[in-house]
Amino acid sequence: MASPLLFLFFLLSSIPGGAPDLVSDRAALLAFRSSVGPVVLPWNDSMTPCSWLGVACDAGRVTVLRLPAVGLMGQIPAGTVGNLTALRTLSLRYNALSGGLPADLAKCSQLRNLYLQRNRFSGEIPAFLFSLQNLVRLNLAGNDFSGGISPDFNNLTRLATLYLENNQLLGEIPELNLPSLSQFNVSFNQLNGSIPSKLRKMPAEAFLKTGLCGGPLGPCPGEISPSPAAEVPAGVEAEAKHDKKKLSGGAIAGIAIGAAAGVLIILILVVLLCRKRSSRAGKTRTLEAAVEAGGKPLEVTAAGRDKGAGEGGNGNGTGSHAAAAKGEAAGKKLVFFGSGARPFDLEDLLRASAEVLGKGTFGTAYKAVLEMGTAVAVKRLKDVNLPEKEFREKIEAVGAMDHPNLVPLRAYYYSKEEKLIVYDYMPMGSLSALLHGNRGSGRTPLDWETRSSIALAAARGIEYIHSTGPSASHGNIKSSNILLTKSYEARVSDHGLAHLVGPTLTTTRIAGYRAPEVTDAQKVSQKADVYSFGVLLLELLTGKAPAQAFLNDEGVDLPRWVQSVVREEWTSEVFDLELLRYQNAEEQMVQLLQLAIDCAAQYPDKRPTISEVVVRIEEIRHSSIQAVDRGQSINDGNDQS
Ligand SMILES: *[C@@H]1O[C@H](CO)[C@@H](O)[C@H](O)[C@H]1NC(C)=O
Ligand SMILES: *[C@@H]1O[C@H](CO)[C@@H](O)[C@H](O)[C@H]1NC(C)=O
Ligand SMILES: *[C@@H]1O[C@H](CO)[C@@H](O)[C@H](O)[C@H]1NC(C)=O
Ligand SMILES: *[C@@H]1O[C@H](CO)[C@@H](O)[C@H](O)[C@H]1NC(C)=O
Ligand SMILES: *[C@@H]1O[C@H](CO)[C@@H](O)[C@H](O)[C@H]1NC(C)=O
Repeated sequence: MASPLLFLFFLLSSIPGGAPDLVSDRAALLAFRSSVGPVVLPWNDSMTPCSWLGVACDAGRVTVLRLPAVGLMGQIPAGTVGNLTALRTLSLRYNALSGGLPADLAKCSQLRNLYLQRNRFSGEIPAFLFSLQNLVRLNLAGNDFSGGISPDFNNLTRLATLYLENNQLLGEIPELNLPSLSQFNVSFNQLNGSIPSKLRKMPAEAFLKTGLCGGPLGPCPGEISPSPAAEVPAGVEAEAKHDKKKLSGGAIAGIAIGAAAGVLIILILVVLLCRKRSSRAGKTRTLEAAVEAGGKPLEVTAAGRDKGAGEGGNGNGTGSHAAAAKGEAAGKKLVFFGSGARPFDLEDLLRASAEVLGKGTFGTAYKAVLEMGTAVAVKRLKDVNLPEKEFREKIEAVGAMDHPNLVPLRAYYYSKEEKLIVYDYMPMGSLSALLHGNRGSGRTPLDWETRSSIALAAARGIEYIHSTGPSASHGNIKSSNILLTKSYEARVSDHGLAHLVGPTLTTTRIAGYRAPEVTDAQKVSQKADVYSFGVLLLELLTGKAPAQAFLNDEGVDLPRWVQSVVREEWTSEVFDLELLRYQNAEEQMVQLLQLAIDCAAQYPDKRPTISEVVVRIEEIRHSSIQAVDRGQSINDGNDQS
């Protein structure tokens, strides 16, 4: 309807008045501030706009403007945000902006993300939005938009998110054919009629409190209910659609195949269940048997057994140094760290019921449950070629490390043939398993709070390791070395082990996490740890494993992949879908992403120290608490009016 006008507008606006640049962007931002945020925006006029709160630039233009919940108020005039023609992300959510959207926003043809939820915008959803062909995320929820939902939404072929809930929209939803659409909500509008077919796969919660019918809301009046089809295997459903009236030969064959498939599935389930049960029965074997089942049997010397068992009650609790010093003379036995009683001896450990936890870089790890019920993690080290004295010195140093974010090393066993180390058992397993295991089958998604607290705890653990000496490093930071307690507190494990193993191990073992400058796995600097930690942060934010197949196919690593996506300003595209449910944390997620990219900088000098990283994560987490508070108070304001 307004398209001739719009056309005229395009003609006028394309008349050159000097090519847009940072100077004109700056003028546009200042005009924006004086009209809707004169008091609330603390922008320093004598600095580049790219340093202003909520503003980000690329190639000399403003590309991002994010001002969520800062108290903007009033109508946005033309000649302000509409002049920021290189804009890719505009987030003005949770403010008190009102009136219509400025029509010159149509000039921002690069816009990918438009977050305007929770304001007081009104009028029809403006037609110029449908010319913004690059839009991926559009959130207009919680405003006063009225009128119908235009079929022109079909122009936005890249749209993945369309949130329109809590407005005053009327009438029927047109047939929308948007292949990428995955997040959709029109709840709390005065819509009526039948949900169009392409949207029927959306959950009922996408259509709450409307007058709609069909799909997840149950059949419309007079609509044939899709009743028996739901009971029939999928293959038959397609057949049934072809010929509803009579069962064709094809349909009968379909049913037969479907039934056969059903029987097969049941059979497979039975077999799987039996397997599971038998493997559970297998868990009752002892550590010694578990090790032997893995190949090379444990070679624990007879001396070790006798002495170990014999000295158990000898009150040999004078501390690890004494025990270690005695080590060579006293024969082979479990050496405990710290003072206090020896809670168990080697014989107890070998008799403990055990299962394999995983094969790691430095050897296989087992969970062993001792007779008194205590669980410990035992690691059987491989490729240790250090002389005994040196080994004992180094492992003593590891055992002396004490920090709430490190997995404590409790004891070790050294003989020429075997090196065992005993840790506290961490019941929730590794971050790697938590992030990448069991996706889509009813696992609890990891929320922002948990992920950011894991990031902070891991950073603190590494900070402690680095504080023990200028050249002290972990050497093998990765998500499978971040273990979790019952309450999901993160602890760093495997610290110090990189210095115990021989140089035979190649550096490919930390592929994906390894800093580009690292050539010798035994000489990993603190800055290289920071790089690995940056990759770990990216993993937490994207949910992608650094060695994931698709990355390797493209021949890039996780940091480069993230950088390429972020450079395109598809910032919210990089995040784990599980995290996108927590939209009010997005600013903080972006900040943590920036920190991750800084950590994974190519040149070591450009990377922050781990102490700086800790401070920045603390700040980000702090601001996320504030953002929630602010969002809340603005909500309250909206509810009152
Ligand atoms: C603005 O920036 C200038 C230059 O960096 C600085 O000297 C000045 O104190 C700043 N003004 C305010 C109000 O922060
Ligand atoms: C926005 O752009 C128009 C056309 O180029 C120009 O006339 C206007 O002054 C600009 N607005 C601001 C605030 O610079
Ligand atoms: C939507 O796309 C069609 C075909 O590409 C075009 O004719 C129409 O003008 C577009 N609508 C808007 C509002 O840009
Ligand atoms: C939807 O509501 C409008 C009035 O708001 C009415 O004119 C129209 O007939 C309704 N359509 C259906 C399918 O109920
Ligand atoms: C849609 O929005 C409503 C209201 O905010 C909310 O209750 C509902 O859970 C949302 N549904 C989906 C699928 O996001």
